[in-house]
Amino acid sequence: MSKLAVVTGANKGIGFEIVRQLSEKGFTVILTARHAGKGEEAAKTFGENVHFFQMDVTNSDGPAELAGFIESKFGKLDVLINNAGIISSNRGFETASILETELVMKTNLFGPLKVSQALLPLLKKSEDARIVNISSGMGSLEDQKIGGYTGYRLSKWSLNGLTMLMAADLKSAGIKVFSMCPGWVKTDMGGAGANRSVEQGADTAVWLATSPDAKSGFFYRDRKVIQW
Ligand SMILES: NC(=O)c1ccc[n+]([C@@H]2O[C@H](COP(=O)([O-])OP(=O)(O)OC[C@H]3O[C@@H](n4cnc5c(N)ncnc54)[C@H](OP(=O)(O)O)[C@@H]3O)[C@@H](O)[C@H]2O)c1
Repeated sequence: MSKLAVVTGANKGIGFEIVRQLSEKGFTVILTARHAGKGEEAAKTFGENVHFFQMDVTNSDGPAELAGFIESKFGKLDVLINNAGIISSNRGFETASILETELVMKTNLFGPLKVSQALLPLLKKSEDARIVNISSGMGSLEDQKIGGYTGYRLSKWSLNGLTMLMAADLKSAGIKVFSMCPGWVKTDMGGAGANRSVEQGADTAVWLATSPDAKSGFFYRDRKVIQW
């Protein structure tokens, strides 16, 4: 039986490319997206080993519904890629919108937390379970000193914290947890001026999902550990 992966927010961008690379490696993949039409369209691009499941990561019922779907159809899960994310406007602390900051935290931090919690019982049934949190260099400690993009920086910094504590808490269960920065990638979020392709942006996430050399509880870019 092939390994099973879930990729959130995968109807486009880096998530879509992660689905492509994982399916090429023989994984069965559940491509999740918040909009049914966009998600179904994206999943159709692939063969029968890519399944679509609608999930808005900010929705409180979605992760449990996804867990139910996986339980009934596959019985276990090997890899979870928490990719879904939004960026905030470039405002410093003084003018940052609280509403916007809350939405970014809900998506980029509480989304991965809820999805990981809901899918944990299924990951515990895998021999080699992994969770990859798609973070950003803007979530590094050094980067906080630059200021600006308050909601986004805070959300990715917090996501890195979540990775560290999940890796510690899940060590005894043998579940590996990573954060990774894809670099600056040409997507709707990164913009046309970005210096990396989606193939390059997705590469480290796929490596972390599959390589025996990936060390749990670390922050990666280009398959190498970087500073938190
Ligand atoms: N691009 C970069 O340069 C860059 C750099 C560092 C980190 N990252 C991170 O990489 C990840 C992917 O980014 P990207 O560049 O591929 O961005 P993107 O092209 O904007 O794609 C983001 C994806 O997340 C989905 N999404 C957003 N909110 C969601 C929600 N509440 N529930 C479910 N799905 C949701 C979007 O769905 P819709 O299509 O419905 O909006 C879309 O599929 C993000 O976590 C981002 O922070 C990107």
